[in-house]
Amino acid sequence: MSGRVAGKVALVTGAAMGLGEAIARALAREGAAVMLTDREVDKGEAVASDIAASGGKARFRAHDVAVEADWEAAVAATLEAFGGLDVLVNNAGVSGGMLPLLEHSLEDWRRIMAVNLDGVFLGMRHAGPAMVARGGGSVINLSSILGKVGLAHAAAYCASKGGVTLLTKAAAIEWAPLGIRVNSLHPGFIDTPMVANALHAVENGNEMRVALMAAHPMGRFGVPAEIASAVLFLASDESRFMTGAELVVDGGYTAQ
Ligand SMILES: NC(=O)c1ccc[n+]([C@@H]2O[C@H](COP(=O)([O-])OP(=O)(O)OC[C@H]3O[C@@H](n4cnc5c(N)ncnc54)[C@H](O)[C@@H]3O)[C@@H](O)[C@H]2O)c1
Repeated sequence: MSGRVAGKVALVTGAAMGLGEAIARALAREGAAVMLTDREVDKGEAVASDIAASGGKARFRAHDVAVEADWEAAVAATLEAFGGLDVLVNNAGVSGGMLPLLEHSLEDWRRIMAVNLDGVFLGMRHAGPAMVARGGGSVINLSSILGKVGLAHAAAYCASKGGVTLLTKAAAIEWAPLGIRVNSLHPGFIDTPMVANALHAVENGNEMRVALMAAHPMGRFGVPAEIASAVLFLASDESRFMTGAELVVDGGYTAQ
C-alpha cells in the first residue's frame, strides 16, 4: 500500500460537492479508505462510485450532521465497512446567506449553529470513541477565515466558525494524551457551490465577487484542491507534532 495516508480510514462529511468532494478524492488517491457522507444522496453516491471506479476505496452514507442518530449510524457504518476510524474531517457546513443582524431571526441562527457547530461537536463526540479504540487519530475541523475575523451580514456564520476554532483547541488539549490530534483549517474564499450560490443570491453578486477577490492579497479565490492538500497534510503523519493549531489557507486574507 502506498500513499501519504495509506492504510488509514477517513470519514468526510459534506463530501457530495465542493471542498468535501475534493478532500475525499485526495484522501482516497493517497491510499485512505474513505466513508463519504452528506445529506445530498444522489451526488454523494456518484462521487463515491467515481472514486471506487478509479481504484480508490470509498463508500457513501446519507447523513445529516445536525442529527445525533445519523452520527451513530455513520460511525457504525464506517467501522463495519473498513474496520476502524483514523481520520475525521468535519467539513459539512452552511453559509446561511447574507443575514443583517438587525433582521436576523432566531431560526436562522439556530439552523446555522446546528450544522456548523453542533455538527462538529457531534462528530467528535461519536468518532472519538472509535479513535480511542484505535489508539489515536486525526480530526480536522473546517473553520474559516471567518472563524478568526468578522464579516458584516455573517454574524451567525462567524460565531459558528469561531466556536469551531476554540472547540478544536479544547478537544486538542483533552485528547493529546489519547493520541488524537485535533486541528482547525481556515480557508479563505474558495470557488465552491457555497460561494457561487451565496453570490448568486444577492443583487450585486458580480461586484461582490470582484471586491472579495481583491480582499485576498493574492487577488483571487482559492480552488478546492488547495484546501484538500492542507487536509491531506493534517490527516497524514507528516503533521504528527501538530495539534490545536489553526492552519490558514487564505491567499493572505487574514495577514492584513
Ligand atoms: N467555500 C469557501 O469559501 C469556504 C471558506 C471557508 C470555510 N468553508 C467551509 O468549508 C466547508 C465546505 O464548504 P463548501 O464551500 O464546500 O460548501 P458547499 O455548500 O459547496 O458544500 C457543502 C456540502 O455539505 C453538505 N451539507 C450541508 N449541510 C449538511 C448537513 N446538515 N449534513 C450533511 N451534509 C451537509 C452539502 O449538501 C454539500 O454537499 C463548510 O464547513 C464551509 O463553511 C468554505
